[in-house]
Amino acid sequence: MKFVARFSPWTVTASVLIGTSLVWIFSYSTINIGGVVAQFRPTPTGISPSKQPGSPPVLSYWISGTRGEKNRVLRLLKAVYHPRNRYLLHLDADSTDDEKTQLALSVQSDRIFQTFGNVDVVNKTYAVDRTGPSLVAATLRGASILLRTSFDWDWFIALSSSDYPIVTQDDLLHALAPLPRDLNFIDYTSDLGWKRFQRFQKMVVDPSLYNDKNTKLIFSKDSRDIPDTFTLFTGSPWMILTRSVMEHCVESSWDNLPRKLLMYFTNTPYTMESYFQTVILNSPRFKNTTVKHDMRYIKWDNPPKLESLALNLTHYREMTESGAAFARRFQEDDSILRKIDKSILSRSGDGVVFGSWCSTDAKKKKNRCSSNWDGDIDVVKPTASGRKLRKLLSKLVLVENPGYL
Ligand SMILES: *[C@@H]1O[C@H](CO)[C@@H](O)[C@H](O)[C@H]1NC(C)=O
Ligand SMILES: *[C@@H]1O[C@H](CO)[C@@H](O)[C@H](O)[C@H]1NC(C)=O
Ligand SMILES: *[C@@H]1O[C@H](CO)[C@@H](O)[C@H](O)[C@H]1NC(C)=O
Repeated sequence: MKFVARFSPWTVTASVLIGTSLVWIFSYSTINIGGVVAQFRPTPTGISPSKQPGSPPVLSYWISGTRGEKNRVLRLLKAVYHPRNRYLLHLDADSTDDEKTQLALSVQSDRIFQTFGNVDVVNKTYAVDRTGPSLVAATLRGASILLRTSFDWDWFIALSSSDYPIVTQDDLLHALAPLPRDLNFIDYTSDLGWKRFQRFQKMVVDPSLYNDKNTKLIFSKDSRDIPDTFTLFTGSPWMILTRSVMEHCVESSWDNLPRKLLMYFTNTPYTMESYFQTVILNSPRFKNTTVKHDMRYIKWDNPPKLESLALNLTHYREMTESGAAFARRFQEDDSILRKIDKSILSRSGDGVVFGSWCSTDAKKKKNRCSSNWDGDIDVVKPTASGRKLRKLLSKLVLVENPGYL
């Protein structure tokens, strides 16, 4: 692959073509990667996250929503914001042009996001059915933009508007800091159980792959055999994946497996429960890099329905004691979200989450980060939850991959 760096004079709010997508941003320079022009912005402050051994990792978040969810996407962004990380926001094809413009404007006019230049909005959007392969396509698209716009992130996390963090980014970065950057946090099994027929022998067509509006899956009457050249894995659709797995799936020119599986999974429902699991566990390079944990708190009905339960204040205690990093499914502006903001994230008003990266001045006054930033983005200050999560993850790694620590 050929990297051609082309530094242009700094331009404000330029849109630069990435494949077929336009990403909005404050552009400082563009880089031509393998013929695709992408944004590359050193942070405007000239501060990049330290990548020294012992430094906290850098996370990349792909946050997606649909029509009417602009405010939820923004709130979630602020709740998981840290200047070390990278963020890419996507409202799918059901959202209006007005919402998309409003979202981009909100990001552009936020002085903290401007200061660190680490939030991008996908301008040209695509249809997604959350139960179909179009969600995997959208996720891979998000990852490929993040891979091209930023060279330093370690892990990829996909969030939707009904997710919310239940630890601060300082806590999550602290918990991940001592771990090798090649571990994938996925919950999986090869015991297909009832899914053997319902998911893998049944075939679907996902019209969102070719329509310009979100469209429900079409189930075929025909069924097919279970593959015998690779083993199917299934599990939680929520995961934390490494940069190298995302590169492998996006740019797999030397290995046919990710591409072949993508084609196979084009006709499989609930594709996010299986695609990445099957790629990782069938690949000699990645199969020993798993930590069996999705770090999510999710509450299911009994018997489980298609959607998990909407969380409310009655779940608060169990949720905070679960030791997870994220929880779902939340309804817009539910009182449990306000409680999480207040008691866990110390997020006041409409601001981003306070952390040790905030300016020293802001720390003295109140838990609010100001844009007169003079803090240190390489220092994280964990709370008890961060220390607990760090212990849990280190223990899981020791059990599964004793060679690692
Ligand atoms: C996307 O960007 C282009 C070019 O800047 C602009 O003309 C168009 O209106 C934008 N689309 C949306 C939905 O904001
Ligand atoms: C992966 O783990 C298995 C079982 O622990 C071991 O036999 C194998 O050598 C490991 N492979 C690699 C590439 O580390
Ligand atoms: C909270 O959720 C549970 C389970 O979904 C439900 O039974 C209960 O009625 C809800 N409580 C409130 C106050 O909404």
